[in-house]
Amino acid sequence: MRERIVAANWKMNMGIDSGFELVDNISKLLVKQPAENVTVIIAPSFISLFSIADMIFEGDSLKYAGQNCHYEQSGAYTGEISAEMIADTGAEYVIVGHSERRRNFGETNEMVGKKVAAALRAGLKPIVCCGETIEQRKAGKQSDAVKTQLTESLFSLSKEDFANVIIAYEPVWAIGTGENATPEQAQEMHGYIRGLINKKYAKKMAEATPIIYGGSCNAANAKSLFKLPDVDGGLIGGASLKAADFVAIVHSFPEE
Ligand code: PGA
Repeated sequence: MRERIVAANWKMNMGIDSGFELVDNISKLLVKQPAENVTVIIAPSFISLFSIADMIFEGDSLKYAGQNCHYEQSGAYTGEISAEMIADTGAEYVIVGHSERRRNFGETNEMVGKKVAAALRAGLKPIVCCGETIEQRKAGKQSDAVKTQLTESLFSLSKEDFANVIIAYEPVWAIGTGENATPEQAQEMHGYIRGLINKKYAKKMAEATPIIYGGSCNAANAKSLFKLPDVDGGLIGGASLKAADFVAIVHSFPEE
């Protein structure tokens, strides 16, 4: 069975104390109701990442991620954090190419590709975001848009490297809007992405690559998304900021 993943993307939310409290509460809930066969990842702000990742919480089943990284290992890049620095905290993952970074900080597919390479160099697993804008969907160009993103940022990786990649399909129009993709839209795109991986890397790889959904995924709609054959979990923004909601999402997979 493919790995199931639920990742919390806190974005620029939660201070040091509130972040600590949130992880503490999530851990306690997961001790009471363990998430069997689900990898649960938390991506706090960099300010909180080290203290949280270094701390042993009850049960301690959580994994950690950076929300972004620079592609160089070190140097004169004021304000930036390298993949190696993230790995130093004990984090094992990094989110790369989130649409907010593409839109607000001008990240191109080429830069995303360099960040993916940096993550792999540092031993981190990249969670690589892709997804179309509303204009692209209205023009029926959503598949082309996603194909271009994946081709330009991921598909030159070797098989060995690609095996460590997690893909997050996040339609831009669904992020933070309360309007999630319908199960049909999500399944169609996840199946399409899996088909692209099949063509590029062969069937075994396509079957093994986790493809998670993001964009207004919450405790109310997660079940209808996580039961889809090609949806392997979620990247959760707003609904990850409340422990009970987030843990409810973690428990939204169908019985095995
Ligand atoms: P959202 O964000 O769940 O608040 O829509 C998801 C994301 O941006 O990863």
